[in-house]
Amino acid sequence: MSAFTDHVRELQSRWTQALTAARIDAVVVAAGQPKPYFLDDQSPPYRANPHFAQWMGGAECPQSLLLVTDDGRARLFFHQVEDYWHQPPVQPELEGAIDIEVHGSSESLMNAVTKAVERRNRTAFIGETEPTGSNLPFDDLNPPLLLNALHYGRAKKTAYEVACMREATAIAVAGHRAAEIAFRSGGSEYDIHQAYLTASRQTESELPYSNIVALNAHAGVLHYQHYDREPPAVRSSFLIDAGARYKGYAADITRTYAHESTDPFAALLHDVDQAQQALIASIRPGMSYVALHEQAHRAIGRLLVDHALVSGSAEAAFEEGITDAFLPHGLGHLIGLQTHDVAGHMTSAEGGTRAPPARYPALRLTRTIETGHVFTIEPGLYFIPMLLRELRKAPAGKRVNWPNVESLLGYGGIRIEDNVLVTDDGIENFTRDAFSSE
Ligand code: GLY
Ligand code: MN
Ligand code: MN
Repeated sequence: MSAFTDHVRELQSRWTQALTAARIDAVVVAAGQPKPYFLDDQSPPYRANPHFAQWMGGAECPQSLLLVTDDGRARLFFHQVEDYWHQPPVQPELEGAIDIEVHGSSESLMNAVTKAVERRNRTAFIGETEPTGSNLPFDDLNPPLLLNALHYGRAKKTAYEVACMREATAIAVAGHRAAEIAFRSGGSEYDIHQAYLTASRQTESELPYSNIVALNAHAGVLHYQHYDREPPAVRSSFLIDAGARYKGYAADITRTYAHESTDPFAALLHDVDQAQQALIASIRPGMSYVALHEQAHRAIGRLLVDHALVSGSAEAAFEEGITDAFLPHGLGHLIGLQTHDVAGHMTSAEGGTRAPPARYPALRLTRTIETGHVFTIEPGLYFIPMLLRELRKAPAGKRVNWPNVESLLGYGGIRIEDNVLVTDDGIENFTRDAFSSE
């Protein structure tokens, strides 16, 4: 049996369980379709409903519907109209694991689905409800009980999903290698971005998220969104946060480079990289991700002291909240069909949640780490003027070595981001493995 058919088997078992628990006997999952801009006939790039894409080997199949019944059987009602304006969608290759019915119109497709569920007691629908809304012929639209169970389960990847994520990583790493070369040869942010796209053979709309390509102080803007056409007069640092998708599964990778290997920023970068790897080496199933995030803050406290940016003890830098100004985002997040995959705050399939601690509102992952989870580990250390201004006013600001900190403002910051799979005795690091292979 192939990895894909095994994957479908696993989905069948998860969905049977989720449907039974929610007392629903059949659910229709809509792929979705492009949605035009307000008062326009143009649409942003369309992405399939992830609950649909998970069964489809990433195929987007706009306007198709998938029927899943409580015995785990799935049937695709594939929408394929004749069209001379567009290339009609290609029927997905599902290896016989899912039955396919082809329909040449939305009307015939909807009639067939309605007929298929008419003898069912309780039916549900997962997808965008607009424009039909409450006219949809199902009992429950996006029922939370069902969604909770499916979302919770998505954190654990099947072997097929893991293989897709390794592949997405390899695509992204090809882009990252080209981006470093473009940086070293004097390219602008725009040039580097284009080099990334060419080497990874992706269009912008295929990317899982918009590339962050930041030279110098721009590296201190966490989600920097521009691509300067001109290279800066002086080049100090380069941060690139760029990914790829394979069959719908994302890679999310950040690397930071120093222009001069001998300057203090390069030494700091080296140590953030070491700290990131030490954090990853400590991961075991059963640990709390919140504890790992705190460990990252303590490591940043250590680095601030070691690099003469803060005086006193590393512990005090952490306890007094100084590290919050230098690392204002979470250590990472679940990743899969979505870059920031769902259910990072869930504690149970029934819908229990654990909010991030008040000190770390941006932390996207608070779950207990389990074998099969895939998440990012992305500590950072930034020089962000607006956060430093606040710190300067606080009592703890007295312990900051401001001349040293200010000398690094022009470098923006550092982030190192890998994607890891939790195994029974540690992790598999997709990102480091791909960077170290030829
Ligand atoms: N690229 C967005 C993130 O790292 O979460
Ligand atoms: Mn990330
Ligand atoms: Mn990222």
